[in-house]
Amino acid sequence: MTLGRLGPATAAVTTHVSRSSDATPPGMPVKGPLVDQFGRVVRKLRVSLTDRCNFRCLYCMPDGDVPWIPSEEILSVDEIERVVRICARMGVEKIRLTGGEPLLRPGVEEIVERIRGIPGIRAVSMTTNGFLLEEKAAALKAAGLQGINVSLDSLDRDRFRQLTRRDELERVLAGIRAAARAGLEPIKINAVVMRGINDGEIETFLRWAREQPVQLTIRFIEFMPLDGSNVWTRDLVYTADEILEQARRVAPVEEVHNDPSDPARLYRFADGRGTFGIIASVSRPFCHACDRIRLTADGKIRNCLFAVEEYDLREMLRAGATDGDIEQAIRRAVWVKWRGHLINQQGFVKPQRAMYAIGG
Ligand code: 5AD
Ligand code: SF4
Repeated sequence: MTLGRLGPATAAVTTHVSRSSDATPPGMPVKGPLVDQFGRVVRKLRVSLTDRCNFRCLYCMPDGDVPWIPSEEILSVDEIERVVRICARMGVEKIRLTGGEPLLRPGVEEIVERIRGIPGIRAVSMTTNGFLLEEKAAALKAAGLQGINVSLDSLDRDRFRQLTRRDELERVLAGIRAAARAGLEPIKINAVVMRGINDGEIETFLRWAREQPVQLTIRFIEFMPLDGSNVWTRDLVYTADEILEQARRVAPVEEVHNDPSDPARLYRFADGRGTFGIIASVSRPFCHACDRIRLTADGKIRNCLFAVEEYDLREMLRAGATDGDIEQAIRRAVWVKWRGHLINQQGFVKPQRAMYAIGG
């Protein structure tokens, strides 16, 4: 792995403290669906339940001790529920719970249940590293969780340990089996592909998925500049075209009719045995169809993974703001969303907040 070359510069993230007295930007609708200045409508909200994680994936976290967000700054269950309820009134339909590692949040089942019960919310799903899934899958299903995405970047024990800095491959595999037994559906596997590290495993992954008794959709993800230890360089991005080339060695591949708001382009094997996806955030950005925003564990709205500005709701929540004030603050945060990320342009700066603190 080439660690010698310099990655992009980083930029400190600016937090805007939203106030009920903030002016409405010209042109922004004050009711109706949640839209940005380019006409994209927000239907999905990703809620980070904690920034803490028990893994240290190379593409996400620094190794060693991490300065976690102090617990008093983390939104309470009531605060999360309130923000989701307000978003649901503006047309948000799908919630994905993320982290850090969301299963480390005490009472995660209750959070699922409460969000599931909010009028307008049609689906609650989760992205997890799978470590606690074996013990929690049945309770999550009972609480109303639907789909689950499990991060799994290697099927080889040593490489798994190199990538996650934890020797827990077997435990994650047991978690995936438990999710299937519990009836969580769909089950998707997220594999971030890094050149020179796990790019040789694409065929192995696909053959493995084709042999499983339940349907597992593997999504190969291009490595994005959101890592916590600044190792990202363009050379480490193993591109969608290269991934597809390997997949074609397994069996003939055809493209599936895609939902444009799904970041993954889906493909299926022409022999009917299996579907997989490629999330080409770097080589084929899909920002034009983005319908998502994020709520960080400490109560900031982020309108893009790569945003260097965020909008604080926590202070409003704790200072007695009305639902209407919070709604307008969310509308303003969405309205100013930029057209798309600038990874492929000169002068790109990467936000100092890494993936684990954003919520994947
Ligand atoms: N690039 C691409 N994907 C990433 N993830 C975390 N960090 C990165 C990165 N730098 C993905 C992981 C995980 C999800 C939360 O985000 O695959 O499944
Ligand atoms: Fe933890 Fe997920 Fe980041 Fe890995 S990718 S360190 S499991 S938050």
